[in-house]
Amino acid sequence: ADATGGTPPEYISPTDPEILAAEAARGWNGRKVPVALTAAVTTVDLGGRFVDTWSYGGRAVAPELRASVRDKLLVSVRNDLAVDTTLHWHGIRIRNDMDGAAPVTQDPIGPGGDFLYDFVVPDPGTHWYHSHSGLQADRGLFGALVVEDPEDTSGADVDAVLVLDDWVDGLGTTPEAVLTALNPAISGGHAGHGGGGAPAEHTAEDQSVARALVSGGHGSSVPLGGMTQHIGYPLHLINGRPPNDPEVVTAAPGNRVRLRIVNAAAETPYRFAVAGHELTVVAADGFDCEPTATDTLIIGMAQRYDVLLTLKSGAWPIVATVEGRDGYASTVIRSHDAAPLPNPDIGGAVPELTGRLLAESELRPVDTVRLNSRTADRDYRVELIQAGDRYVWGMAGPDAGKLVMRQGERIRITMVNNTTMWHPMHTHGHTFAVPDYGGLRRDTVNVLPGTELAIEFDADNPGEWMFHCHNAYHFEAGMTANLRYI
Ligand code: C2O
Ligand code: CU
Repeated sequence: ADATGGTPPEYISPTDPEILAAEAARGWNGRKVPVALTAAVTTVDLGGRFVDTWSYGGRAVAPELRASVRDKLLVSVRNDLAVDTTLHWHGIRIRNDMDGAAPVTQDPIGPGGDFLYDFVVPDPGTHWYHSHSGLQADRGLFGALVVEDPEDTSGADVDAVLVLDDWVDGLGTTPEAVLTALNPAISGGHAGHGGGGAPAEHTAEDQSVARALVSGGHGSSVPLGGMTQHIGYPLHLINGRPPNDPEVVTAAPGNRVRLRIVNAAAETPYRFAVAGHELTVVAADGFDCEPTATDTLIIGMAQRYDVLLTLKSGAWPIVATVEGRDGYASTVIRSHDAAPLPNPDIGGAVPELTGRLLAESELRPVDTVRLNSRTADRDYRVELIQAGDRYVWGMAGPDAGKLVMRQGERIRITMVNNTTMWHPMHTHGHTFAVPDYGGLRRDTVNVLPGTELAIEFDADNPGEWMFHCHNAYHFEAGMTANLRYI
């Protein structure tokens, strides 16, 4: 059976009264934030290596977007690629028809086409946006979206975003090679006819590519402590820059600096630290948590953390080492009174990131984002399993992959990980509490190998929503289901 469920998607009408009512309840403040993004093939300079890739705006990371809570974003997306695309607003409890998850919430944006995303942002915090078509987010089609809170009391003098990414080299460096690798079915169309027929997402071809990736089809495959697999990433980037040519963060000595860290990697959890500095974690996936001090923290795929530090005089490496195997991303934070590091690349001197390591299970939500405890109206149990070389859902029967709910209900979903891999599980349209973590609020949680973990949320955002593993290859191979309002 098809792991994504047997029934064809039902398109959401933008005039659905329930969706419009949910949008009205977000309380637009009257301000509009217009943005124009064009997805196109671009040559990007990665520290002296020139690669052809797909981008919004010509860099290996899309422009950082900023808005204030309850602003309305008006984002026009133009598709100058030869293939379909979409844009998803990760972590935003958005109106359903603007969620950018084709084919569930919209038709894909075809080559030469455009789409206007028009929505109110209800929650402050560090979020991000990325293509939700196949493996495109791996090619540079992602960026940070910061929703500022006018009532923020954290007292930061400087606020900087750090987007972490694992840069796939094995897919090839020409647009044709990328197209061929990502979607053989449409690569012919690219060669001169602008794309041809638009296939649905998760075509058999996509899935066979994803299976090849999962099983190491374009590089060596090494299971490492059950964490992840190595498929040949020569580079890890921060804000689209490699270690030898970083985008340096600067501030005055003694400044309070807020770093907003986004892990946009396809399949890499990072261990993050700033040399010489203690970090205070103040938000997880944009939601405030009890300030918690640490030296290092692990950031799973698609997760975000906001940390505060007080900058000491000097130039200090910021390091994100790849959890469970070799590799690192790095940049530098420097006080205004300090000289630049002679060689910004820490190169052969990657520190062992020891010291206090914070687990996400130790974080606790602040009261204002805590979900009141209440008995669940629906209690689902889903298995995350390995079937051959694919990681998929273990739900069976006619409702496989469909988790139904009614507006106003409390939903509990227990995820059982029967594999040796991490699965960073993500809900669209909703944020959840993790009861085992004191009700920590977030939108993406790591379900560790051989464990089970429950999430709870209120069904308060009508529509049909994706719920999936944010390891890009697991997602593409079928570890995805829908949350459906009935
Ligand atoms: Cu980052 Cu389906 O999401
Ligand atoms: Cu997974």
